[in-house]
Amino acid sequence: MTDTYDLTVIIPTFNEEENIAAIIEAVNEVFLRSGIHGEVLVVDDSSKDRTIPIVQEIAGQNDNVRLIVRTEDHGLSQSVVEGFGAARSDIFQVIDADFSHPTELIPRFYEAIRGGADIAIGSRYMKGGDIEQWPLKRRVISLGATAFGRILFPEVTDPVSGFFAVRREVVSGAPLAPRGYKILMEVLGKGRWRSFVEIPFVFKDREEGESKLRLETMTDYLRQCADITRFSVTRRAGPVWDEWKKIARFGLVGLSGIFVNMGLLYALTEFAGLYYLISAAIAIELSIVNNFIWNDIWTFGAADNLRFERKIQRFGSFQVVSMGGLLVNMAVLFLLADVFGVYYLVANLTGILIAFAWNYAINRHFTWKS
Ligand code: GDD
Repeated sequence: MTDTYDLTVIIPTFNEEENIAAIIEAVNEVFLRSGIHGEVLVVDDSSKDRTIPIVQEIAGQNDNVRLIVRTEDHGLSQSVVEGFGAARSDIFQVIDADFSHPTELIPRFYEAIRGGADIAIGSRYMKGGDIEQWPLKRRVISLGATAFGRILFPEVTDPVSGFFAVRREVVSGAPLAPRGYKILMEVLGKGRWRSFVEIPFVFKDREEGESKLRLETMTDYLRQCADITRFSVTRRAGPVWDEWKKIARFGLVGLSGIFVNMGLLYALTEFAGLYYLISAAIAIELSIVNNFIWNDIWTFGAADNLRFERKIQRFGSFQVVSMGGLLVNMAVLFLLADVFGVYYLVANLTGILIAFAWNYAINRHFTWKS
């Protein structure tokens, strides 16, 4: 437990001579205005420009400003983790040096953590958030990375944000081993946390200097996602593990539905003497009911499980999504088989998998949104 300061603002830097003095000044002004007793910790990766002497000079005049110069294992995320280890407070705020992140929001993050959240995440992708001045290529890459990250953390709208605050206990002792840019994913995947809040913000692209994002950054990111998944699965704990458990259960329930469907189709046609298409319609509907019951109780364990009107609402939503899934399946089958000439069984399997992803994603976010 360290309580020298209320808050440590960690600023990773590499060649930020145009921005660093101004951002430190801006953060200090925020401290002054909000009454937060905060420190600024600049973690630099041996910049080749004047960043280091500039920060040294500022640190010489301000007790609350410190500089760490790293010489090994170059990297933004590694620098942030080093900042966590050196901070002299129990709440850490991470921001870019280039004014992409609005410093005036820092008190909101701080208050969110003081109010009980373990992590406060600046989100560009929730209502009120936005990105200014990004070229199309950068937008597409970011959307792809975010979508990928949301497979692991579906509740978080911006899991690759570089603007976040975190409580010391979340990261201390956590085996963080990040590469590349996505430090927040590492914190979410390996930190010890229960609650988070998201705070919308408008990301402004840097006016001075240039982004250091490179192709290796993206491959690092994919490796990091695999590593976080492996970590959660081997420990059988954490949010990523919980998500995979849900996906697996949803899949098993889907399989049980196939048995219900086939069994009923056979029984109604053979023993009850119904026309097979009528049997099929009844079998489809009852397999949807079967799947709903198991998903409601087992896969998502809805907390208000017993409230009847909520249950009916969820069932209505599940029913609509399932019918949509059926259409998705048929559309993919038709498109692949008829238009692209793919063998129809392969086309159907692809349709089933895409419909499964559709069903899971939509139900996860709407029917059983937690
Ligand atoms: N210490 C250190 N080492 N700092 C670095 C390094 C490095 O290797 N590379 C970049 N930085 C610093 C920069 O000096 C800046 O303060 C901050 O990290 C962000 O660097 P940019 O290169 O401007 O990042 P970006 O705009 O491409 O990416 C930002 O947005 C992403 C979301 O799209 C960052 O906030 C990312 O963390 C975030 O994922």
